[in-house]
Amino acid sequence: MNSARLTLNGNEFELPTLVGEEGEVGIDIAKLRGSSGAITLDPGYGNTGSCRSAITFVDGEKGILRYRGIAIDELSADASFEEVSHLLIHGELPTESTLKSFTSALAANNDLPKEMVTMIDAFPKDGHPMGILAAMMAALSTFYPDADPDADLDGVVAGLMGRAMSIAALSYRKQKGLGPLPEIDPSVSYAANFLRLSHAESGKEYKPSKVLEHALDMLLIVHADHEQNCSTSTVRMVGSSQANIFASMAGGICGLWGPLHGGANQAVLEMLEQIQANGGDCTKHMELVKDKESGVRLMGFGHRVYKNFDPRATIMKKACDEVLGELGIEDPLLDIARKLEKIALDDDFFVKRKLYPNVDFYSGIVYRAMGIPTDMFTVMFALGRMPGWLAHWKELRDEGSRIHRPRQIYTGYQARPYVPVADRG
Ligand SMILES: CC(C)(COP(=O)(O)OP(=O)(O)OC[C@H]1O[C@@H](n2cnc3c(N)ncnc32)[C@H](O)[C@@H]1OP(=O)(O)O)[C@@H](O)C(=O)NCCC(=O)NCCS
Repeated sequence: MNSARLTLNGNEFELPTLVGEEGEVGIDIAKLRGSSGAITLDPGYGNTGSCRSAITFVDGEKGILRYRGIAIDELSADASFEEVSHLLIHGELPTESTLKSFTSALAANNDLPKEMVTMIDAFPKDGHPMGILAAMMAALSTFYPDADPDADLDGVVAGLMGRAMSIAALSYRKQKGLGPLPEIDPSVSYAANFLRLSHAESGKEYKPSKVLEHALDMLLIVHADHEQNCSTSTVRMVGSSQANIFASMAGGICGLWGPLHGGANQAVLEMLEQIQANGGDCTKHMELVKDKESGVRLMGFGHRVYKNFDPRATIMKKACDEVLGELGIEDPLLDIARKLEKIALDDDFFVKRKLYPNVDFYSGIVYRAMGIPTDMFTVMFALGRMPGWLAHWKELRDEGSRIHRPRQIYTGYQARPYVPVADRG
């Protein structure tokens, strides 16, 4: 067996190595502390593999992303979100009849208990929809305490994805004052149902255009998984304590919310709007970004793993051009985005640091064209990421993982006595 050798305080330790299916090399340190007493330190986990996984492969240098071996370009061009969800969770594309039953299960399990509808109504009108989604996802565990993924995985998955769609659509309707959720249409796709449930005016049917349905389907697919990112690792972390599946998903939603992760799509739009409000001066904004003192980042740029290009950004940029073109929308924010991209790609600051547009740089402009408000963007990302989280949760359970419990290098006080309050200076 190949191994790595570590010399520590004059002692030698053999550490086994392993090689993944795509050739990536790992050093197995599972027994390091037991044999040497030492631990590793890797803040941000940039060099740490937390698990073995057969779900998604990313090669950041080559700009490759594959779900269960199939390239994202092929899936986003030819597959439906329902097919991709099945692929991620079960490992294979569904047969025609499996796809049919999965699609109808999704439509049959989107109902919300009336108490949850009341709860959603009780949130502040401008309460962030990610807060509502996270809270309601955890709340589902109280209404479905018997949900048992070991006995009925597809039923639980359908209930989670179907109800997440309803929670998202209802919080949007609440913001817009559109009244109760309309009935789901079991004959149309998840993407079309989301648009129907969100946009239909009370008592009226809303039929989304094929362009929008297709674009949303593609957006959901592109977001569906991305191996051990912050939210997925959170799902695994929470799941490793054997918390229920709803609690694990709620953890993922919270992890996704931040502007350095899924919240970047909202932050990009706000950045573009701010540049527009300040007269559209992109150069000035880029000077600010390059000034490290300013603390301003070019949102939608850079990625921990992609150091060449993000294949999802390429798909998204194309979709953005197509959707706006087909709908005849001229969005001045798209011009600003294009200008920022051009400046960045020609500027040494960004080139040297390998900063390229990521998945979030153009997605907000597509969501805007769909009539989805800015604070709903990250919720859309969460709906797309749900099958990925579920696939990782299942993989973790199937392999019987230990509870995740990292260690630390302690930097606080050494032992010292308690001083009674009267004796403190
Ligand atoms: C995605 C992101 C969090 C990755 O972070 P990371 O891997 O920890 O990268 P670092 O923060 O170490 O950045 C490396 C260098 O690039 C700079 N940098 C990274 N992203 C930047 C950005 N968007 N704008 C300006 N500078 C950036 C950092 O300041 C750092 O510069 P330095 O080496 O001179 O200190 C980061 O690129 C970012 O904040 N991007 C904007 C938010 C975003 O779009 N997130 C969505 C990701 S899909």
